[in-house]
Amino acid sequence: MAVDVLLGLQWGDEGKGKVVDFLAPDYDIIARFQGGPNAGHTLIFDGQKFVLHTIPSGIFRTEQKNLIGNGVVIDPITLSAELKKLRDAGVSYQERLFVARKAHLILPTHRYLDAASEAAKGQLKIGSTLRGIGPTYMDKTGRNGMRVGDILQPDFMDRYNSLRQKHLSLLDIYPAIDFELEAEEENWLNSLDELRSLQLVDGEYMINQALENGQRILAEGAQGSMLDIDYGTYPYVTSSNTITAGVCTGLGIAPGKIGEVIGITKAYCTRVGSGPFPTELHDDDGKRLAKEGNEFGATTGRPRRCGWIDLPQLKYTIMLNGVTQLAVTKLDVLNIFETIKAATHYNLDGVKTQDLPYDLCSMEVDPEWKSYAGWETSLDGIALFDDLPERARTYLADLESYLGVPITMVSTGPEREKLIQRTTVASN
Ligand code: GDP
Ligand code: IMO
Ligand code: MG
Repeated sequence: MAVDVLLGLQWGDEGKGKVVDFLAPDYDIIARFQGGPNAGHTLIFDGQKFVLHTIPSGIFRTEQKNLIGNGVVIDPITLSAELKKLRDAGVSYQERLFVARKAHLILPTHRYLDAASEAAKGQLKIGSTLRGIGPTYMDKTGRNGMRVGDILQPDFMDRYNSLRQKHLSLLDIYPAIDFELEAEEENWLNSLDELRSLQLVDGEYMINQALENGQRILAEGAQGSMLDIDYGTYPYVTSSNTITAGVCTGLGIAPGKIGEVIGITKAYCTRVGSGPFPTELHDDDGKRLAKEGNEFGATTGRPRRCGWIDLPQLKYTIMLNGVTQLAVTKLDVLNIFETIKAATHYNLDGVKTQDLPYDLCSMEVDPEWKSYAGWETSLDGIALFDDLPERARTYLADLESYLGVPITMVSTGPEREKLIQRTTVASN
């Protein structure tokens, strides 16, 4: 048995939550392996909408176990709010939700530091979601962090107070900002009771034993590959490895245990926060993509920047992830366009290339475009790939041939059922 992976190939928000929720019945365990509540994964079914930040997107299926893996950073306050929404919706999770003891905790002072650091950067800010992600991973790699398992240790409060004190000293180097530390701390400490009541496990044993027992596992990525700490548009990235390699460290499995890698891309491209975006549109087409795609961040509500699909960028992230199949989402958003474009090459300082340069941030990128005639018709009610308009199939076939990976899923609307599957995807 192997662990299949589903992750974003762009700058996040590709529709991972929707597709994981759709595929979940094919698996026994759904596991988040990195990131934290900077993620916002939207699921829409039976006329209800849910946005998950920490909990895996298999939670609404009744049979599946869901693991928050050790590579994730957890804010007990956000987790508690998510759990309340599940209870309000009548979803029973107690038996099916597991939290890795080795996952790190986001403290209120991590969020305080995130906000102060961003404020101090001014124009150069990363555009962080301000969920404390960067400072928490800094403490993890700096070997100062606190882990979920620590909440059961007798010296927990001593360690908490000492880390908090360190953070307060660090805050002295930044200009003062507003932050209700006392209220946030009270809320945080209360939320720990809820975390203690969950099933805390050694995630690496849980996953490896499940594999031994022939269970099927789907690893759910957060963010996107262009936000990867090593290979993204540094420094405008998040603080974890968002690519397939992160599944091994984030769940404790060997590389040979990776099965299918499903890469998700929108039929166009978006980015929220600062940083380079070669195919970004500042014209009417960009506005139409934003409006038709309802492009507002699921976590922060910020407007997302929009542009056409970027094929050199996708080729790069397909290479980094070892993608074996593609899911294309939001194809319906292109319904209104007479002409659709895709960037096939970059002109970088006069040189034509398909490769991403060392530092996209410091270069003028002039994309070379290929144009496609739009289909200008609704995709509602289409259940089979072959029933898509011919022009849509031409567009998709061209993406496949350029990228060299088969498109096995096409999403045509936000709702669970609006997904066309071409072949079975589970590798097990
Ligand atoms: P994630 O972070 O990758 O899970 O994606 P988000 O939930 O942040 O953003 C994707 C947005 O697009 C959400 O509002 C989804 O409801 C919506 N969505 C997903 N798939 C489709 C689709 O095929 N068509 C349309 N129109 N919306 C979609
Ligand atoms: P999902 O899982 C889109 C972006 C932020 C910012 C940068 C760093 O929903 O696809 P951070 O809070 O991690 O320090 O922010 O990364 N970012 C995301 N953009 N979707 C996400 O998650 C994101 N998580 C972080 O906007 O530019
Ligand atoms: Mg999102």
